[in-house]
Amino acid sequence: MILLYFLILIYVVIIAYFNLKYPELRWKWDSINDSNLKFPKNFFWGTATAAHQVEGNCENNNWYDWENSVDEKGLPRIKNNQKSGIACDHWNNYKQDTELLKKLGVSHYRLSIEWSKIEPLQGEFDQSVLNHYSDLISYLIKNNITPYITLHHFTNPCWFDKLGGFEKKSNIKYFKNFCKTVFSIYSKEVKNWCTINEPEVFSVMGYFTGIFPPGKKNPQLAAIVHRNLLIAHTEVYQELKKMKNGDSSSIGIVKNVMQFDPARRWNLFDWIACRVSDLVYNEMSFSYLKYGKIKINIPFFIKLFYEDKQAVKATDFFGLNYYSHIHLKFKFDKYEFFENVYLKNDTMTDMEYTIYPEGLYRAIQRVKLIGKPIIITENGIADKKDDRRKLFIRRYIYAMLRSIKEGVNVKGYFYWTLMDNFEWAEGYDMKFGLYSVDFENQERKLREGSKEYIKIINESK
Ligand code: GAL
Repeated sequence: MILLYFLILIYVVIIAYFNLKYPELRWKWDSINDSNLKFPKNFFWGTATAAHQVEGNCENNNWYDWENSVDEKGLPRIKNNQKSGIACDHWNNYKQDTELLKKLGVSHYRLSIEWSKIEPLQGEFDQSVLNHYSDLISYLIKNNITPYITLHHFTNPCWFDKLGGFEKKSNIKYFKNFCKTVFSIYSKEVKNWCTINEPEVFSVMGYFTGIFPPGKKNPQLAAIVHRNLLIAHTEVYQELKKMKNGDSSSIGIVKNVMQFDPARRWNLFDWIACRVSDLVYNEMSFSYLKYGKIKINIPFFIKLFYEDKQAVKATDFFGLNYYSHIHLKFKFDKYEFFENVYLKNDTMTDMEYTIYPEGLYRAIQRVKLIGKPIIITENGIADKKDDRRKLFIRRYIYAMLRSIKEGVNVKGYFYWTLMDNFEWAEGYDMKFGLYSVDFENQERKLREGSKEYIKIINESK
């Protein structure tokens, strides 16, 4: 009997500890005044895109192959067998799209340049493609739009994938070579660089859930790829800093942060599922960037140790992508140990997650511990009906401002995304765009809900 009481006591103490240490923040929105949001003078506003999602004709990368392949059951990889195709034809429409940026009143544009177009074969750089990006960059700058260039946003050239991609640490040199080449050409004009976009999403989706290419389901390999991407960031940072214009450039990594909250706050198994997910998804990068250390030991699944003290210095800013949190519920299943559940009072976005502005505040509180300036490099909502966008924009931006008022150094915000585009495995079904796109005739239209962004930009001045 005493033993039973003792065990209950231990259980209660552990649960109380988790509850206190990881509270799920909820604000009473009815009593919050989120009108008139005033920002520090130098705060900047932007929108973001990625090459494969908007440019069109990306036919030489892992995603093109993925879109044109089928799974083990013969089913298409992308919803309804959609293909990225010519996407928004941003390649040809960039001048018109620059006008869209200007109409919003943003001063910054985060875009990626497509490695597979620039270096279609190993070591062979396509001059016409390099010229295209030069024109695009100059055009943006001429129009007073500051570019933030992402060097890797989910896509690998096919030749790089054939060599094993980021599964092999020894392949990082190919990516470094590409980065050095483009930096030597564009760094005179481009002062802001994002090395890798979301190493945790790339590795978890590509190597754990298998929803992204290469569709593997191997937790140990996922962790290795994640680690290699972090190392790639550090090495690229170090190389570029040594180059001409390196000193005057700001180079950072972009990470997605998502909170894992337990579906039942009294259930130890839910907590374990959450803490383990957080370790692999978030803590791994945080610990690497803050201490230069990776330490994961999940028996039978992942064992990974790595240390490089230099990593701590190797980032000028932290690019934070934030969308939402999820609630995990443990289940006894041979293959999947937990499922996502949705609380009935929460408002869903069109993606499988809810509107949770408090989460952006929480994410910023955590990221600030790394001690680098923060830039919100992505934040946005998939909302086909456009009936939640307005609320989403104001509340998330309010949450960010609250952190700034408390002294956190958040320098700018990029809304994801400028216009509807190819949303990876979801195809064109997800409507994240401030502008809708009619993919029959490439017509762009500002959405009603997006006017809230314009309003906030104006208010903030
Ligand atoms: C991010 C990704 C973007 C975009 C966005 C919306 O993970 O970096 O490319 O797809 O999600 O889901």
